[in-house]
Amino acid sequence: MEYNIVILPGDGIGPEIVKEAEKILQICASAYSTTLNLKKYCAGGASIDKYGTPLTDKAFEACKKSDAILLGNIGGDKWNGLPIEKRPERVLFRLRGELGLSVNIRPIFIKPSLIRQSVLKKERLIHGIDTVFIRDVTGGELPSEKYQGVGKFGKEAFDKDYYNEKIILEAANWAFKIASQRSKKLLSADKANGLVSSALWRSIFNEKSKEFPSVKFESKLIDDTARDLVSNASDFDVVVAPNLFGDIISDELTGIVGSKGILPAATLSNSGKGMYEPNQLHNTDISIVNKNIANPIGIILSTALMFRYSLNMNDAAKKIEKSVDIVLNNGFATKDIYEEGKKLVSTIEMGDLISIELKKLLGENK
Ligand code: IPM
Ligand code: MG
Repeated sequence: MEYNIVILPGDGIGPEIVKEAEKILQICASAYSTTLNLKKYCAGGASIDKYGTPLTDKAFEACKKSDAILLGNIGGDKWNGLPIEKRPERVLFRLRGELGLSVNIRPIFIKPSLIRQSVLKKERLIHGIDTVFIRDVTGGELPSEKYQGVGKFGKEAFDKDYYNEKIILEAANWAFKIASQRSKKLLSADKANGLVSSALWRSIFNEKSKEFPSVKFESKLIDDTARDLVSNASDFDVVVAPNLFGDIISDELTGIVGSKGILPAATLSNSGKGMYEPNQLHNTDISIVNKNIANPIGIILSTALMFRYSLNMNDAAKKIEKSVDIVLNNGFATKDIYEEGKKLVSTIEMGDLISIELKKLLGENK
């Protein structure tokens, strides 16, 4: 098989962590006799600085033709003064909107090796956390029509909270499919007591749930869910929410886990094309840039999602995930997840350690 992968290192720590993910892609390509054509393009602030635009047409066309996209990190304080339509984040809105990448999937986990890292009391985490968080990324306020003007009370602005059946159904299809492959528990979090877009969301989810009688489905308000996710974090299996709520809650969950760099994410189209990135893909902490200290695990685990969802190579995905587990269980940690008793390693060393374990696991195959 042969696949075209576009790599967008992006800003800040993006270029450093992407290099570690590339090692993993190459190892799997050779072990499974698959050709991965990796092409790199500037994106985000880096592209604004070089070409005056967050994504050149050439980069966009390459993304359009690719089977999957790997994105490192987007934005930074340097570009904060730009108007919304010129900011680095436009890359995301353009790729999501124009390539039909409509549903974002973020596995959230606290493994035993990371429990002490979490901000939650340890007794609340005896069952760990193993949740998949899903949101749509083409509805709601973020990518919507915007208005800025002057009214009776001075300057005014609004973003339209727009949803339609297609957007909601795409999220529902992924959410029920993923829930039915896991513990068969799905929670949809909305604001149906105040928003008509959420009322539509809820009615479509209710309707869809009838096709999945084996999935224990429940709708809840997003504010209640935000509270419960902190107080009963271990109880959740698959959670789905509209775009903006999902954006906020998925960052809340990285806060609970205790590192911005360890969780992966995938943004998928119906056809399986996907963009893969760390869960918190706007890590704007410039104090860690180019110091070889950033955690590459989130993006490495994103390559596992790429193998699973876009390249149909689930075995490779499982082996990458297992390699990460082994390295974490052996007590290795980058600075963000370091604590006494662990062995502190750099970005590159972490990538190498995971590569070594992966090669061992792949060798077992032969
Ligand atoms: C995310 C990010 C993006 C979003 C930003 C950078 C536009 O926060 O993917 O969670 O809000 O969708
Ligand atoms: Mg976000």
